[in-house]
Amino acid sequence: MLNSAALQRSSWVVGNWKMNGGLSDNEALLSGLLGLLEDHAGGSVAQCAVAVPAPYLFQSMVRLSGHSVGWGSQDVSAETSGAFTGEFSVAMLQDFEAQFSIVGHSERRARHAETDAVVAAKAVALADAGLVPLICVGESIQVRDSGQAVESVCLQVRHVAQALHAKALLSHAVFAYEPIWAIGTGRSAAPEQAQEMHAAIRRTLSEINAQAAAQIRLLYGGSVKAATAAALAAQPDIDGALVGGASLEAKEFFEIACAMSGE
Ligand code: 13P
Repeated sequence: MLNSAALQRSSWVVGNWKMNGGLSDNEALLSGLLGLLEDHAGGSVAQCAVAVPAPYLFQSMVRLSGHSVGWGSQDVSAETSGAFTGEFSVAMLQDFEAQFSIVGHSERRARHAETDAVVAAKAVALADAGLVPLICVGESIQVRDSGQAVESVCLQVRHVAQALHAKALLSHAVFAYEPIWAIGTGRSAAPEQAQEMHAAIRRTLSEINAQAAAQIRLLYGGSVKAATAAALAAQPDIDGALVGGASLEAKEFFEIACAMSGE
């Protein structure tokens, strides 16, 4: 049974392209997606967005402006400007009218040693400028096997949520629960397993700000496919998906967005 707060949270399905694509591949993917959405006009479909590699933000802006699909980046710096070779700022994302950025993806936490403090600073910088921080949290298989998954994920959530709450920005956030063992493995968390974690995340958020907690969208990520999306979406605390591999195929991504529409 969906409660009234769940009914207020519209689903969001975000494709994380990771380091994939190219000008012509992106054009084919985006025009395929827009075509499917147009053919389906009037039908029920979740709000869609793509998190593209930064060099393709301009292409995304040109291609997606005026359409229903949003765009954003996969990371951003918490700094505003200066000697930070290779990084880009929130203001640069705004130049390309990006609406959001992923922060704290496990691939960045692992490969770039991003701490909860760094992730929190990035989330605050985004929310402060009116962009949505899409904050990823998740546990390794070792942590899950040790029985510490809920504790470990809720600690990640608390860090970022408290930093946002201190600036009255918590309601801007979207969290994505992405168990590391489910990413790119073809082994999605079971819907009940994901729901258990999402409920724990929402409880953690409500200890900080109950009103914001009821409104914040919690996405699930990790081997989401069209075939598994509806069962995930049926869980009361799952409000959409962060999709990796399957977002690189227009039809599969579109079908996930349809399955996640909640209807
Ligand atoms: P996959 O959907 O390929 O498992 O990737 C999930 C992910 O990491 C999205 O951010």
